[in-house]
Amino acid sequence: MINQVALVTGASRGIGAAVAERLARDGFTVVVNYAGSQTPAEALVRKIEAAGGRALAAQADVSSAVEVARMFDAAEAAFGGVDVVINSAGIMKLATLADSDDALFDSQIAVNLKGTFNTLREASRRLRNGGRIVNFSTSLVGARLETYGVYAATKAAVETMTAILSKELRGRSITANAVAPGPTGTELFFDGKSPEVIARFEKMNPLERIGTPADIAAVVSFLAGPDGGWINGQVLRANGGMV
Ligand SMILES: NC(=O)c1ccc[n+]([C@@H]2O[C@H](COP(=O)([O-])OP(=O)(O)OC[C@H]3O[C@@H](n4cnc5c(N)ncnc54)[C@H](OP(=O)(O)O)[C@@H]3O)[C@@H](O)[C@H]2O)c1
Repeated sequence: MINQVALVTGASRGIGAAVAERLARDGFTVVVNYAGSQTPAEALVRKIEAAGGRALAAQADVSSAVEVARMFDAAEAAFGGVDVVINSAGIMKLATLADSDDALFDSQIAVNLKGTFNTLREASRRLRNGGRIVNFSTSLVGARLETYGVYAATKAAVETMTAILSKELRGRSITANAVAPGPTGTELFFDGKSPEVIARFEKMNPLERIGTPADIAAVVSFLAGPDGGWINGQVLRANGGMV
């Protein structure tokens, strides 16, 4: 039985919710972060508790340093400390660079890059020794598809920050890695895509399907659990072989 506390950002829906559920099943006490989706976040906490786990819903917009610090305070007050941070909160807005307005650029920088920075800064100051950090990139950093320029750029920056942080944590037995999913069946992926476009994405990998949130949660479980301890400073692409 693992007796550790895992904080998962963006855990009210999608991949983050699957990660929170999986880590709870693995034995972690889980902090379920959300920005606006209070009802699903609280429902997930009740589901985890009903299965015998421990969890807490914690509202914080990750783009706010103050709110992120308050979330860590709440986790420490409830459970005594934090061992694992999973940065799943993210947004995706697609346009060619020519058609990208300032709001598209600024919002993705704020959530995907500044949001990850905010949690990494708190995590690097507060995580207990022996902890784990898993950030979220995207396989689009490798695939480089049109219209994904700003989104993929925020994630490329996350990959770089992850590797540097893993070195800065020297001496504390804390690993920092990034998972880079391919297309995964969540609102973020499906929003605005026609069945034809989705079918095209399915064919981009030789397993010929879209990933599931559970596929990605299994990778995070590996990196956060005892078997992943020797992986450090890496980006693990989980995409069925797309790139
Ligand atoms: N799905 C894919 O195909 C795919 C592929 C590669 C990488 N990724 C990455 O995987 C991660 C999870 O994506 P997903 O597909 O699960 O997305 P999703 O289904 O749209 O869920 C996004 C989650 O992030 C939260 N969130 C958004 N803005 C936030 C903020 N400012 N502060 C705190 N939480 C915030 C949302 O909470 P609220 O509902 O409360 O706003 C929600 O829980 C993202 O980093 C994404 O870039 C996804």
